[in-house]
Amino acid sequence: MSAPAPPTTSTGSPAGGAHAWRGIIEEYRHRMPVADDTPAVTLREGGTPLIHSEHLSELTGCEVHVKFDGANPTGSFKDRGMTMAITKAKEAGNEAVICASTGNTSASAAAYAAKAGMTAGVLVPAGKIAMGKLAQAVVHGAQVIQIDGNFDQALTICRELAETEPVELVNSVNPYRIDGQRSAAWEVVDHLGRAPDVHVMPVGNAGNITAYWRGYREYRDDGIIDALPVMRGYQAAGSAPIVQGAKVEKPQTIATAIRIGNPASWSQALVAAEESNGSIRSVTDDQILQAFRLIARHGVFAEMASAASIAGLLQLHEDGELEPGQTVVCVLTGHGLKDPEWAMSGVDEPVTIPADLDAAAEALGLR
Ligand code: F0G
Repeated sequence: MSAPAPPTTSTGSPAGGAHAWRGIIEEYRHRMPVADDTPAVTLREGGTPLIHSEHLSELTGCEVHVKFDGANPTGSFKDRGMTMAITKAKEAGNEAVICASTGNTSASAAAYAAKAGMTAGVLVPAGKIAMGKLAQAVVHGAQVIQIDGNFDQALTICRELAETEPVELVNSVNPYRIDGQRSAAWEVVDHLGRAPDVHVMPVGNAGNITAYWRGYREYRDDGIIDALPVMRGYQAAGSAPIVQGAKVEKPQTIATAIRIGNPASWSQALVAAEESNGSIRSVTDDQILQAFRLIARHGVFAEMASAASIAGLLQLHEDGELEPGQTVVCVLTGHGLKDPEWAMSGVDEPVTIPADLDAAAEALGLR
């Protein structure tokens, strides 16, 4: 008699073996708007670490976890939405996609278009996107166009181009982007076995907060969780149209990823905040920079915009708005390597010594 087949996990990998994460479309196919036979354009995005932060937990008296979406294939959460948007664009027979970006969307669109054998055109604000992000779009073969203007103006142009020309828009106004980005909320719940009490995240164009809120709500509607988190979104103070209740014509912030004055999903961000008894607030560049350094000192290198969620967490704590023991998830949306310039700012150059054992021991303070 032959031996019984080894048991498999829900994802089909042999039990006891490594879980081969297949990307968000395969992992959550039953929740995605794709046919059974739709081939996924994937770089195996998602499945990113939810990291318990002892330090932030101690500081706040809560159980704080960070969802490190910088660990995605192109280094940001955008890959979750892009796998869906490019899969659907390809399935519909498109050959070209277009997007406006503060850098991460263009990096992701360029990579997924390249994987799909499609072309990508990206419009970015001249001189206002991090070098790493620009490099990504370039190496993946996108047509990179810098506009003498800001993200909001670039998005307006892209929306119009998509109406009149044979290109598919893959900004988060494309509903498939939001569909894909819901997966991050499901991963948080799948990992914790419950929804967090408080969910803290940066807000720029407001697609991601829209997606998380939809993801949590769907799990609640399906009976997977019984309580929803309070949603706390943070804009940068110099780019805080939702907080101010008015468009910002000339948005400013060191967190260039969220340098946005007229978010496309403005109203949905307000819905998420209101329905969850949460808020959309702002943090200053100073708070963002301090939060960036704090988490880096505890092992997580996230980009400046991502640190807005940590700055928000610390602000909530200071204002006495967290209850002891609450479970909190802060989303870190992008990888710090995207923008090493900021990481090195205000930091002393490393010392240079002769290639010598004694000199090394001395320089390290070991002798
Ligand atoms: N964090 C990072 C690292 C981002 O790149 C963005 C948005 C956000 C947060 C905000 O997310 O727009 O869904 O509210 N970046 C876009 C881009 C605008 O073009 O890469 P959001």
